[in-house]
Amino acid sequence: METSVHANLENTLTMQELAKEIIEPHINLRPKSFEDYPGQERICENLKIYTKAAKMRGKMLDHCLFHGPPGLGKTTLAGIIAENMECQIKITSGPVIERAADLMGILASLESKTILFIDEIHRLPANVEEILYSAMEDMRLDILIGQGPTARTVKFDLPPFCLIGATTRAGSISAPLRDRFGIQEHLDYYSDESLCKIIMRSARIMNTIIEENAAQCLAKRCRGTPRIANQLLRRVLDFALVANKATIDVEIIDRALERLGVDCEGLSHMDRDFLRIMHERYNGGPVGLEAISSALNEEKSTLEDVYEPYLVYRGFILRTARGRLLSPTGKEHLLKFI
Ligand SMILES: Nc1ncnc2c1ncn2[C@@H]1O[C@H](COP(=O)(O)OP(=O)(O)O)[C@@H](O)[C@H]1O
Ligand SMILES: [Mg+2]
Repeated sequence: METSVHANLENTLTMQELAKEIIEPHINLRPKSFEDYPGQERICENLKIYTKAAKMRGKMLDHCLFHGPPGLGKTTLAGIIAENMECQIKITSGPVIERAADLMGILASLESKTILFIDEIHRLPANVEEILYSAMEDMRLDILIGQGPTARTVKFDLPPFCLIGATTRAGSISAPLRDRFGIQEHLDYYSDESLCKIIMRSARIMNTIIEENAAQCLAKRCRGTPRIANQLLRRVLDFALVANKATIDVEIIDRALERLGVDCEGLSHMDRDFLRIMHERYNGGPVGLEAISSALNEEKSTLEDVYEPYLVYRGFILRTARGRLLSPTGKEHLLKFI
């Protein structure tokens, strides 16, 4: 656990003095241990056992696949596993590995007992993905040399490694790849209680004092997502600083979030526009995502990965075979703003 210095702060210091001295809004908030990672309890408990068992055997952890909406802690978990396994981690992502040779180069240069983390693994091109099959299963690279009748396969043994893949779309991963991950977990939105702990911890690391009810208030309005909680907290700190407030209270949270366009349910402008288009142009639906995407001038994939999952999770939108429907709760929420 990080130590806190805020307990020692002089009450008489103004916020400006504090800001110059100790508040570090750009500090890295990424937890490095399970103890500092509230939420996702079942997943964490299981991972603690798997890493412990792997260490007892003196072997690498089985390959892991983490899926779920952005900002819920997939990359962070990979880092925590590396710390727990006491091994190094090499980080890359699907879109940057364009050619088979790129991935072969990465795999061939892995040192023994390394974690290879591939973010957005669903975006690996198919011919690149195929290389992973033998690498994951047999710890071996099968390299095809030459063409036609003279072509031959050269086998290249790889050191023990653990692949951790992360994706916002489990459905876009091919079955052969998915089946090779021995550990697969879905990260879900966080409870207000877990988010409150995350906010209190982040505030502590940034040497800021936040009242508990203010942290609870912020927790309810960050779309169940730690990354958004931290982003909003940073903006709230800006408002507090300029308002010369040394302690973050509910009033400053309300004021800051109103200015940021975050409503009482934590929805952003974009979320509300999503609902509004459905209501005003399509009479509540059913409507296809393509139509919403062109009306909002936003990529369909962004709507699908970032905005829609939370609106569905909260029951504002219903997904049906005929398209998306605005639910009565969604309509009721929207009407508060019209
Ligand atoms: N359980 C958690 N506890 C504390 N902070 C978290 C937690 N999960 C995520 N975070 C914070 O949220 C940010 C986003 O997490 P990240 O692992 O990058 O999400 P993802 O890879 O799923 O998009 C990180 O910088 C980290 O500080
Ligand atoms: Mg990530």
